[in-house]
Amino acid sequence: MDCAHNPPTAAAISVRGLAKHYAGASVFSAVSFDVAPGEFVAIVGESGVGKSTLLNCLAGLDHWDAGRIAHDGIDLGALGDDQRAVWRRAHLGFVFQAFHVLPHLDVAQNVGLPLMLLGGRLDKEALARVEAMLGAVGLAGLGTRLPQQLSGGQLQRVAIARALVHRPRLLLADEPTGNLDPATATRILDLLTAQAREAGAALVLATHSREAALRADRVLQLRADGIVAAGIGADGIGAAGIGAA
Ligand SMILES: Nc1ncnc2c1ncn2[C@@H]1O[C@H](COP(=O)(O)OP(=O)(O)OP(=O)(O)O)[C@@H](O)[C@H]1O
Ligand SMILES: [Mg+2]
Repeated sequence: MDCAHNPPTAAAISVRGLAKHYAGASVFSAVSFDVAPGEFVAIVGESGVGKSTLLNCLAGLDHWDAGRIAHDGIDLGALGDDQRAVWRRAHLGFVFQAFHVLPHLDVAQNVGLPLMLLGGRLDKEALARVEAMLGAVGLAGLGTRLPQQLSGGQLQRVAIARALVHRPRLLLADEPTGNLDPATATRILDLLTAQAREAGAALVLATHSREAALRADRVLQLRADGIVAAGIGADGIGAAGIGAA
């Protein structure tokens, strides 16, 4: 096995020859790409092609069958489940397609969860950070509500605030604007992009939205046989056919 640490010049995310199947059926193979610190990469591709599966692999939440994923030079495949969990807490923000908001915690507790997992109790500074995040996603004043008392778009914004609250180096967002009106979607994309631009985080965002993809530095189209650079035309998003990224 190679060394778990590469030189410090390593990409924020490096994926080489990734392959994944479920119960004998291949989802994708030969997926290779890099994401630089501060870069925003959009992943597009038809429904069912494996975008969520790819993000779950990048987060170390799902196992893959071949290939290598490294974050900041750390070989994710060389970490055990416990080490992956520690790494995720410290460095990852993940906006799940299905939100995964915890139903028994109120909104503020859901948003503060990453800070609690990192530091124990929520101190004054952490609570202020939670309040600031709620304000930033347009949920000021809703901190004591339970998730069941929120709309779909509000739940999505809880998930986004939770992904950003601990200022992660790596931000994975699965269709984060799918339930939002255009103005709110723009505001959310501003927040996600700011974490990349201002904090140097790597942002990988899976989406069907042309507007979201247009904000990215690069658009990659996931296909069964790999990932290729994509172009965004007036009629939608399509493979540019300029080879594997
Ligand atoms: N736990 C699972 N067991 C078996 N097959 C699965 C499982 N999860 C996903 N799949 C299959 O893997 C493929 C990729 O699913 P995935 O959710 O990654 O697609 P996607 O590109 O995110 O789609 P969408 O755009 O609809 O969100 C699909 O064919 C799906 O049916
Ligand atoms: Mg998906």
